[in-house]
Amino acid sequence: MKLSPSIYTADFGRLGEQLRDAEAAGVDWIHLDIMDGHFVPNITFGPLVAAAVRRHTRLPCEAHLMISEPERYFEAFKEAGVSRLIVHVETCPHLYSTINQLRQLDLQVGITLNPLTPLSSIEEALPLVDLVLIMSVEPGFGGQKYIPLSTQRIAAVRRMLDRIGSSAELEVDGGINIHTICEVRDAGATIAVVGSAVFNDKYSVAESVNMLRAATQQCHTDDEAEDIV
Ligand code: DX5
Ligand code: ZN
Repeated sequence: MKLSPSIYTADFGRLGEQLRDAEAAGVDWIHLDIMDGHFVPNITFGPLVAAAVRRHTRLPCEAHLMISEPERYFEAFKEAGVSRLIVHVETCPHLYSTINQLRQLDLQVGITLNPLTPLSSIEEALPLVDLVLIMSVEPGFGGQKYIPLSTQRIAAVRRMLDRIGSSAELEVDGGINIHTICEVRDAGATIAVVGSAVFNDKYSVAESVNMLRAATQQCHTDDEAEDIV
């Protein structure tokens, strides 16, 4: 299972070092949580910090846009060197056009939805995207508890993607740690976003990533997981 650490909970005073530690620990992506104080109550950072992150790591970066009218910022994030943008369907009434805009900018396309937004709101878009992100907490803050009903949503999207023969990534975001990572993997997720379980005061980044890797060793095998789904 791929890991995409969110810098939301990183120490911004030594962000470069934290990014280098994550890269050395063998993670796959860097996840940037962009919040505008409007779509979600919290405010984080924008393209300027994304560009700084880009300069400090060779890893590909994805931006999770928890902002109203996200299309206003697509070009800025592209220029900042972000490879994949993930938009909330709640903020995109014209999702087909939004996806086309991202394609025209040669960006990878991710779509996501809040924990109780019906899955039917993404179903038609599935053949058009590179990634689906299941939110397993209400967006807006790091360090929240995994919402258990997310597991059945991951499994349902897994089935939808398999049915149409899509190889899109299935990512999960919120409350992923050593206790929850197997549950989401067994349900069919291919990437875990991890904030506080990678960047925290208790363990080094390397220790945290190793603990997550060790936890995934305890998950079911692929065949067993398929049976569960
Ligand atoms: C929530 C964000 C998440 C979050 C992850 O709005 O999208 O990426 O910061 O943090 P943890 O892993 O601590 O839940
Ligand atoms: Zn996120």
